[in-house]
Amino acid sequence: MNQRITITKLRRMKEEHQPISMITAYDYPSAKLAEEAGIDVLLVGDSLGNVVLGYDTTVPVTLDDIIYHTKAVRRGAEHTFIVADMPFMTYGIGRESTLKNAARIMQEGGAQAVKLEGGIDMVEDVSALVRAGIPVMGHIGLTPQSVHQLGGYKVQGKLEQEAEQLMKDAKALEEAGAFSIVLELVTEPLARAISAELSIPTIGIGAGRGCDGQVLVYHDILQYSSPYINKRFVKTYADIGSAIRTAIGSYVADVKGGVFPEEKHSFPMASEKLNQLYGGSADQQVPAHTEQREEPKPRDPVSNPN
Ligand code: KIV
Repeated sequence: MNQRITITKLRRMKEEHQPISMITAYDYPSAKLAEEAGIDVLLVGDSLGNVVLGYDTTVPVTLDDIIYHTKAVRRGAEHTFIVADMPFMTYGIGRESTLKNAARIMQEGGAQAVKLEGGIDMVEDVSALVRAGIPVMGHIGLTPQSVHQLGGYKVQGKLEQEAEQLMKDAKALEEAGAFSIVLELVTEPLARAISAELSIPTIGIGAGRGCDGQVLVYHDILQYSSPYINKRFVKTYADIGSAIRTAIGSYVADVKGGVFPEEKHSFPMASEKLNQLYGGSADQQVPAHTEQREEPKPRDPVSNPN
C-alpha cells in the first residue's frame, strides 16, 4: 500500500529534483485509477465545471459541487494526497467565510489541502488558512475563475510588467505560507525563473519544462469528451472517448438486433418450480419481465458473472 504524500515530502521532492505528478479527478473511478497508476497528488479541480458538468467556464461551480466530488474522490483514493479547489467567490470576500468554506472542503469532502486562485490580493486569506492548519496551494498565471476579467484564456507573463507581477505574486504566496503554487499558461522562461526563486514546488500546466511538477486535466489526457483536447500544452495518452463511443454503439446494435442478452447472461429456473408456483405453463402464465427475474444479491458471483 502506498503512503500518502505530505507537504513536507513535496518540498523534499523539489529539493531532490524529483518531478511531482498531479492530475485532476472528479469521481470514484477517476481517483481510483489515478491512485492505482501511482499519481503523487490528485486535484479536485473546479475544471469539473467544464469537463463534468458541461459549463462554459468554472464560474458556476459551487462549494457543494466541490464537496460532493471531493467525497467521491476520497472514497476512490484513500492513500493519495487530495487538493480541492475553492470555487469562485468562496474566498477573498471575508476571512471568516474563507475559513468556513475551506473547513467544509476538508471536513465534509475529505481533502488534505485547498487551492485558490490569485496572488498578492489573496495573501491575507492564505495566511489565515495556514494559521488555521489548512494547507494551501496557490494558483497564478491564467486563473480561469477570472476569465472574464482577463479577456480570455491567454498565455500570461509575456509582457515585462506582467512577468514582474507574477514573480511578486509567487513570492508573496510563498511568504504567506502556501505549500505549492500552480503556474497556469505562463511562458516557459518565466515559470522556470519563478520555480528557481521559490523553495516551495511549482506545478505547471501549460508552463513548460522548468516547473517542479506538472498537472493536467484527466479528461484532456484521455480524450474523454473534453472540450479542450486540442490545447497545445495537452498531451493525449489514450482515446477513451472513441473507445466508449464504439463500445456503446455495439451495445445499442446488439440490443436492437436481439443479440444481447444471450443465454449466458440470463438466469435459468426449473420449469417444475415455476409450475408449482403458478400452476401451469410458465410461458402462458408468468409475465417474463417480472416474476421470472431473480433478485440479484450484492456481490453474488452468479448475478455478477464478471
Ligand atoms: O481546476 C483545475 O483543473 C485546475 C488545473 C487547471 C490546475 O485548476
